[in-house]
Amino acid sequence: MTGGARKGGKVQGKGKKETPEERQRLKVQEEEQEEKKARKGYTILKDINIKVEKGEFVGIIGKVGSGKTSLVNALLNEMHLEKGTVHLNPTSKVALITQSVWLQNTTLRNNILFGNAYEETRYLNILKICELNPDLDQLEGGDMTEIGERGINLSGGQKQRIAIARAVYSDADIYIIDDCLSALDNFVSNKVFNNVLKTHLAGKTRIFVTHALQYIPGLDRIYVMKEGGIAQNGTFQSLQQQGGEFDNLM
Ligand SMILES: Nc1ncnc2c1ncn2[C@@H]1O[C@H](COP(=O)(O)OP(=O)(O)OP(=O)(O)O)[C@@H](O)[C@H]1O
Ligand SMILES: [Mg+2]
Repeated sequence: MTGGARKGGKVQGKGKKETPEERQRLKVQEEEQEEKKARKGYTILKDINIKVEKGEFVGIIGKVGSGKTSLVNALLNEMHLEKGTVHLNPTSKVALITQSVWLQNTTLRNNILFGNAYEETRYLNILKICELNPDLDQLEGGDMTEIGERGINLSGGQKQRIAIARAVYSDADIYIIDDCLSALDNFVSNKVFNNVLKTHLAGKTRIFVTHALQYIPGLDRIYVMKEGGIAQNGTFQSLQQQGGEFDNLM
């Protein structure tokens, strides 16, 4: 699978008057940059080959800008593919937890139910395992508190946990999770990883993009991304033996 995207924008210099030499130099520089871009085909992802079995818990790691979110977008068919294909089991229900959370202007509860019917026992358990009860205790209106522009503002960590609760409540088959623990402190993050991602979602297919490398030893397989490609993959133990980009990250 090879994915391309957006065209590069040009920023025009303003204000300072340029000499003809300076203009010529800038023109050459710009042409060189255009050529470089064209040569590279401006492709973000390249030669991606990933296979995730049903029920597997797979990690995607890599430096900032290495292409992890782009890969998620490609999996969801939200990126134009120049070559290759993406196959998701067509009967599987997919839940996505994105890196930047978006919430609706409605109650906290509605943000979790997201159109699904309210099943009390299941809902209360999800609040508990997503560590939302301490937050709800602080809110006068509890889970009926309005959030978003019309209501209260939530912290980044609270938003992330609501997004996780929403995905869990949707009871999907495949979970694609982009860095959902980044705004949580270590204690809460550990609990959510263990109680939600590892235990509650056990048996579901999980693709987990993360910078939190303390969680990867327990995963079934880890893909290491570098410059838009997969540099390595394997279990934690085998990656430790391989060294390479994996060693650079650890
Ligand atoms: N829509 C887009 N069009 C063009 N370039 C993009 C687009 N989205 C991302 N990029 C570029 O592709 C590269 C990979 O970005 P991506 O967001 O996938 O990285 P990432 O591994 O998710 O980083 P992070 O760890 O910060 O989340 C970056 O150089 C980024 O600037
Ligand atoms: Mg990203």
